[in-house]
Amino acid sequence: MSSIKHVAIIMDGNGRWANRRLRPRIWGHVRGSAVVSDIVRAADDIGLKALTMYAFSTENWSRPLEEVSTLFRLLKKFLIKEKARILANNIKFKVIGEIQNLPHETISLIKEMEALTAEATGLKLTFAFNYGGRAEILRAVNAFHLNYPGRTMTENDLNDLMYRPETGDVDLMIRTGGEQRISNFLLWQMAYAEMYFTPTRWPDFTPSEFKKIIEHVSCRERRFGNVCGQTALEHSMEKAETNKSVFIKGANL
Ligand code: FPP
Repeated sequence: MSSIKHVAIIMDGNGRWANRRLRPRIWGHVRGSAVVSDIVRAADDIGLKALTMYAFSTENWSRPLEEVSTLFRLLKKFLIKEKARILANNIKFKVIGEIQNLPHETISLIKEMEALTAEATGLKLTFAFNYGGRAEILRAVNAFHLNYPGRTMTENDLNDLMYRPETGDVDLMIRTGGEQRISNFLLWQMAYAEMYFTPTRWPDFTPSEFKKIIEHVSCRERRFGNVCGQTALEHSMEKAETNKSVFIKGANL
């Protein structure tokens, strides 16, 4: 059983993916939203406990209006398209972030999905939408001081006031698109997370790469001390090749 239970993903590289194909940036988001469906399915298949995906940050409001409205539309489309599968697979859905600024229809769809899946016991699927990590912490601190004036706050207190406390700490954060930063995502929850940055742009990200990363990081935690699935095997083969060439070079000297 993998020690990776909660995976958080920064889905980056949509714009560059589209630009490279001489298409508008929104085309990358449209393609990227199909990948969201694939990765949710993969997370469910491998029995992850929680998957949190960064779909729209508080900073994303500064993008062109057409791009912002496309992202809203894609969230709405996802909720409509995936509803039956989310219900059938016992997935517990939630959006974290300040959703009151979203279009009314989108808010209703989010609320409906959250209510319908409230008792689900499977994968905890979270979309961070209009989300910022610092804002989440500030919101929790302010709520605490309002409710318990003068009391000293503990880690548990703060954790309980996060948007979705039951998902707990992130075990692994994956960022696609080649950048290596966390961009104000789940700052509190990622204190001990393993980080994995892949150059693959989000629209090219596949369930197979997703599963390999999880396997690889599970192995990384164990420092390759044991045989650990295919990645460890590949790793030890690579190592054997390196050793062999070092040995041969040595022998040639
Ligand atoms: C960053 O790529 C990505 C986003 C700001 C949005 C991510 C959204 C999706 C993958 C689709 C949303 C779908 C659903 C179902 C909610 P970027 O455009 O900043 O990439 P760039 O760095 O190449 O410009």
